[in-house]
Amino acid sequence: MAIPIIIDCDPGTDDAVALMMAVAAPEVFNVLGVTTVGGNVSLELVTQNALKVLELVESDIKVYKGCSRPLVKPGIMDADYVHGLDGLGGVVLPEPNRQAEAKHGVDFIIDAIKSHPEPVTLVPIGPLTNIAMALVKDPSIKKNIHEIVFMGGAMRGGNVPGGYAEFNIFNDPHAAQVVVTSGLNIAMIGLDVTHDALMTEDYFERLGLINNVPAKFMTEMLRATFEIEKKRYGFGGCFLHDPCVIAFLFDRSLVTGRHCPMFVEIGSPATSGQTVVDWHNWQQSPANVFVADSINTQGFLEVVMSLIERYKH
Ligand code: BDR
Ligand code: CA
Repeated sequence: MAIPIIIDCDPGTDDAVALMMAVAAPEVFNVLGVTTVGGNVSLELVTQNALKVLELVESDIKVYKGCSRPLVKPGIMDADYVHGLDGLGGVVLPEPNRQAEAKHGVDFIIDAIKSHPEPVTLVPIGPLTNIAMALVKDPSIKKNIHEIVFMGGAMRGGNVPGGYAEFNIFNDPHAAQVVVTSGLNIAMIGLDVTHDALMTEDYFERLGLINNVPAKFMTEMLRATFEIEKKRYGFGGCFLHDPCVIAFLFDRSLVTGRHCPMFVEIGSPATSGQTVVDWHNWQQSPANVFVADSINTQGFLEVVMSLIERYKH
């Protein structure tokens, strides 16, 4: 039976790929709705992008606009230097025929969890603002949350100035701290994993052989990211951060990790947003997060390809 999920996202080139992967596998994912959060680019743009991507794959999954800025700190960080000014690498998709729903994303998360007959899995792939807001606004939802699997965090080096934090957590560390201390089942798919999830030249070639609209869109969009990241990291590939979460939920054997005590640094101006993981549990505290530390890169890329290949148009 398909897992009921809510994808909370900020598309974002890699968010766009994650959305297309999830929609392609209805036997695995019952996507109850998509919520958006300001992150890679503004809330308005990420919401439009989510609608455009869903329309591209002919999905009628509803989109709900969430929070435009982090809980406490000003929303100063965006990532248009990676995702392009529009968030989709400069690829122009048709304007969507529909709009976001009137209900706020946080209220949708609460109502969907409360009304669903089975426990729901939350899949945040942007800053954790909406998820924290939902948990604070109505803590009773906790009893019907199966788990939260988020893309964010890093044990071994980040991707924001300072190099200690990961973008999603850096953007809203207070929200992240609410989530990781919630007592729920939490899995962190961070940079330790996603930096091994590189879309390399050979997989661009494979993608080029898939004759459908999503593959063409993905090629064009990721080519732009590829060039940017090549300059920054010197790698011959571009990161598929958010798709790792979908791949993990699709096939858990692709990722290894362990349950650890973990907290988010919020007090220090120098390291705000750092995810501090006690990998060897020196403090002998209860583990609160499953922290992923490796991925089967080839197996992951095969999942990405096979899901995108499913589209018939
Ligand atoms: C994360 O930050 C965003 O730019 C990506 O979409 C991903 O969610 C990677 O650090
Ligand atoms: Ca994202």
